[in-house]
Amino acid sequence: MTDRSTELRFDVPHSARVWNYWLGGKDNYPPDRAVGDAVAAQNPEILVIARQARQFLVRAVTFLAAEAGIDQFLDIGTGLPTMQNTHEVAQQHVPAARIVYVDNDPLVLAHARTLLVNTAPEGVTTYVHADVREPETILADARNVLNLDRPVAVMLLGILGHAAPDFADMRSIITTLMAGLPSGSYLVLQDGSDTSDTVRESAVMNNYQLRTLDQFRQCFEGLEMVEPGLVPTPLWRPAPTDIGTPEPIDSYCAVGRKP
Ligand SMILES: C[S@@+](CC[C@H](N)C(=O)[O-])C[C@H]1O[C@@H](n2cnc3c(N)ncnc32)[C@H](O)[C@@H]1O
Repeated sequence: MTDRSTELRFDVPHSARVWNYWLGGKDNYPPDRAVGDAVAAQNPEILVIARQARQFLVRAVTFLAAEAGIDQFLDIGTGLPTMQNTHEVAQQHVPAARIVYVDNDPLVLAHARTLLVNTAPEGVTTYVHADVREPETILADARNVLNLDRPVAVMLLGILGHAAPDFADMRSIITTLMAGLPSGSYLVLQDGSDTSDTVRESAVMNNYQLRTLDQFRQCFEGLEMVEPGLVPTPLWRPAPTDIGTPEPIDSYCAVGRKP
């Protein structure tokens, strides 16, 4: 069942707000902090996973905008606005970049109206309140802002473990989105990986479906992997300014190009 409810509820945890809590944000409430604390007590690495996911976003969007010539982004499962959101990173390199954000959390909707505004006058930034489990609807809405006859980068970071526990659904969502986009489009994927007992236990507490590395690979079938391929999130093109050697974590990511 899909969920486009716009009712704000503060008596139950929401994944966007728990994520915001782990990132050190202020847009979270007692039920979010209770789940966040319980998961972090069992798996302290979750704080690293959340921060590394955002840093991967910055590096991936920088690569796409500055090196791969992408100026259209469909960021699904946006999360609450934080530092260096997709439009800020993209428009820094390509001022006319067009970004469509999609999320189904009512608080993200409330913040999106005020915070997700262009950083460059030539750019376009919009928000669609929709459920990723309706990918055709998302593409139809995105068409109002993006030219779907030109390449688009689809970003699915930390969303499908919540939205599509069944792997067949995850595959189907990705296949539908990529089928609706032309050659030269990109898939950017990051999710929790089924790579340790610790993360397995914390994922149950957080109601999050981890993916095996084979499942990650299947999501990129038919796409050309961008170097370095499927890797733990900190190992995807670490910035030259990063200090020390990046350590693997239970979160994987990859970027693939539609040939
Ligand atoms: C873990 S957060 C990730 C946020 C951001 N992508 C990042 O990497 O920092 C997951 C986001 O997916 C959104 N989400 C979960 N299920 C969704 C669904 N069925 N449709 C749309 N968005 C969903 C949540 O509201 C939340 O904002």
